[in-house]
Amino acid sequence: MTTVLSVASECAPLVKTGGLADVVGALPSAVAAQGVTMKTLLPGYPAVMDTVTLGEVVLSESDLFGGYARVLEATGAGLSLYILDAPHLFARSGSIYLGDDGQDWPDNPARFAALCWMAARIGAEGAAGWVPDVLHCHDWQAGLTPVYLREMGAADRVGTLLTVHNIAFHGMAPALMLPRLRLPDWSFHPGGLEFYGRISALKAGLVYCDKLSTVSPTYARELLTPEFGMGMDGVLRSRRADLSGILNGIDETAWDPATDPEITPYASAGEKTVNTDRLAREFGLPDGPGPLAVVISRMTAQKGLDLLLDALPGFLARGGRLAVLGSGDPELERAYHAAAAHPQVAVRIGYDEALSHRMIAGGDAILVPSRFEPCGLTQLYGLRYGTIPVVAFTGGLADSIVPASDAGLKAGVATGLQVHPITADTLSDVLIQLCDLYADPPLWATLQRNAMRHPVGWSASAAGYADLYRALTHQE
Ligand code: ADP
Ligand code: GLC
Repeated sequence: MTTVLSVASECAPLVKTGGLADVVGALPSAVAAQGVTMKTLLPGYPAVMDTVTLGEVVLSESDLFGGYARVLEATGAGLSLYILDAPHLFARSGSIYLGDDGQDWPDNPARFAALCWMAARIGAEGAAGWVPDVLHCHDWQAGLTPVYLREMGAADRVGTLLTVHNIAFHGMAPALMLPRLRLPDWSFHPGGLEFYGRISALKAGLVYCDKLSTVSPTYARELLTPEFGMGMDGVLRSRRADLSGILNGIDETAWDPATDPEITPYASAGEKTVNTDRLAREFGLPDGPGPLAVVISRMTAQKGLDLLLDALPGFLARGGRLAVLGSGDPELERAYHAAAAHPQVAVRIGYDEALSHRMIAGGDAILVPSRFEPCGLTQLYGLRYGTIPVVAFTGGLADSIVPASDAGLKAGVATGLQVHPITADTLSDVLIQLCDLYADPPLWATLQRNAMRHPVGWSASAAGYADLYRALTHQE
């Protein structure tokens, strides 16, 4: 039995800002089916401390970056957890990453270094007798873990895997924080965790973890290029042999059109129209004739939502309707507010899990026009609910959709539409193609049927992770 400690800054349903949380929350049960015992180490944010059932203290430290800290066993949401209780770092209201001014908390480097330090201690010392074979680190917030593990003399005994969910976030800190973050001098050089004269927690993970993965095969290839690598492509190319791409799955229990409590359940796409009508009413949108497209997204440059605004006129002229749920960049929020002046466009700014289910069920199509997308989850929800994905041809979006080309349609395997290259003009053309397909009911029904049959669960990917863990366990 392989044992793995998953180390992350968010985990659904306890604390979530994006897809990272969904993946971290789903992995333990997914890999359990592969004979892997996984526990998850999380920061003790108020949302977590208030929800979980706390157990024994397994580790403590009198001064961890400015205050007393301890790690407790805990259970919650069906997960086996370790919680880093460090009030000076995590007991604060608001966003888990940002202060009220919308900027990163100034002490973010120390907050997540603390998480890594305790992860390394669990690797090196065990926690009340539980010793992980592998530390599975997610994104920059867990990136320093392998450096501390080396310092603790345990890097030969415990395997380390870094999964890159998004290369855009580098986890930077000034070089002069090196001693304060308990980072050894040997690590600070361009072949180590130094990134242009500063500390990068992400680069630490990329250099010092035994193996690297990312969340789709296409993104694994894209990461090696200057266009997508965001300055880390060089280090990734040097580690190409250790890098793999494993596509995310979705939680098929939480996202199941046949049992979803938020909607009128349905087993086949022909029965979903009641949800579409209700969604149109909820958003104050008029009836047809065109498809009702939905967007559920963080509003950031990554997601290409500015391109969508420019691509809309042709779609709206064909009778298409658009319902948007999202929040983020204030400028994009304002632009979408303004777009909602059009009677066929409706926008909700905010984060609303229940509404996101009603939108996935009620939408005819889900739009994901991202400039880059490591994996993306909403297009996978769309497949499962017979809500046709319209996606940029990049990252996991490219890996999860079979395009409705002539060949794809003829072979009866098409599940969605791809936009390539991702510009407002191509997106506009593809949205018109969407209207054409929608206007052909037998063809549309075939697309929906294909989409609902497409596998979107965890089984194949969980086997991929289990193989990686086993390779790391036997590496000594
Ligand atoms: P990312 O992690 O880059 O934001 P993903 O597609 O992997 O992109 O995951 C986003 C997750 O967050 C999905 O589960 C999606 O449904 C959810 N989500 C994003 N924005 C909202 C919102 N405004 N309200 C509810 N859920 C949202
Ligand atoms: C990141 C990516 C997204 C991916 C998610 C989970 O937030 O932006 O594409 O699905 O992580 O891996």
